[in-house]
Amino acid sequence: MLSLLIAALFYIAFLILAYGLVAKILQYKNTPAPLKIPTMPAPTTQAGVVFRMSKEVVFFESLFKSSKVTWLFGWLFHFGLFLDMLRHLRYFIDPVWFWVVIIQPFGKYGSILMLIGLAGLLVRRIVVDRVRYISAPSDHLILVLLLCITTTGMAMSFYLGADVISVKSFFIGLMTFNIQNIPSDPVLISHLVMVAFLMIIFPYSKLLHAPGLFFSPSRNQVDNAREKRHIAKWARDLEKTN
Ligand code: HEM
Repeated sequence: MLSLLIAALFYIAFLILAYGLVAKILQYKNTPAPLKIPTMPAPTTQAGVVFRMSKEVVFFESLFKSSKVTWLFGWLFHFGLFLDMLRHLRYFIDPVWFWVVIIQPFGKYGSILMLIGLAGLLVRRIVVDRVRYISAPSDHLILVLLLCITTTGMAMSFYLGADVISVKSFFIGLMTFNIQNIPSDPVLISHLVMVAFLMIIFPYSKLLHAPGLFFSPSRNQVDNAREKRHIAKWARDLEKTN
């Protein structure tokens, strides 16, 4: 019964995540960017834009320039998350790729970076007056949700242990529509229910900054206004109909 419930929850969560993300990305793609507004100094070639975006994605360059403390905690969390998500790949692939085997300890200790980062970001929301003033309940709740996912995961990893073999056969089973038993371990089940909840809110929350970054005109535009006239798509379509 529990396995069926968790399976149903993950199917629903996956559909909401996939549909929501595709819909949002299409909306971002079709939103007109009427003006040339790359933040200067800006790259003058497309290759330059790729380099600029890569620095944003890997190092959070703009955040570094605007606030060192937020950058430090934000970057630690995301870097730890990146390592740990690579570690989690082992639940979804069989046989496990060699580099996923190598990354395992880095992913495990990456969770400590996640914890430090999330704790720092939550303390910032509470103690910095200016930030507390503009924080909505969802800002706090998302941090708390991520903290709970991280701490339940770490509790299993560092103290309690988890039946990772059964977790893996359950998730491989989900992907092949052959539902297997999930261990009825309360810490594991709460970890998974919270992950499903995170998947459901992802396309309807600020977590959309992940794909949204790539659609930011101030970052993804080439500084070529003098060489090439910038016409937004809607204006071009209007010209055609006139
Ligand atoms: C369906 C997806 C997921 C499954 C099946 C899953 C399963 C697990 C399991 C079984 C463990 C314990 C590992 C062990 O004992 O060695 C664990 C640990 C952990 N999980 Fe997840 N998890 C999932 C998604 C996530 C997500 C989305 C996050 C973060 C937002 C996360 C964060 C963590 C952390 C921080 C740990 C502790 C470090 C580690 O052992 O990797 N998990 N997870």
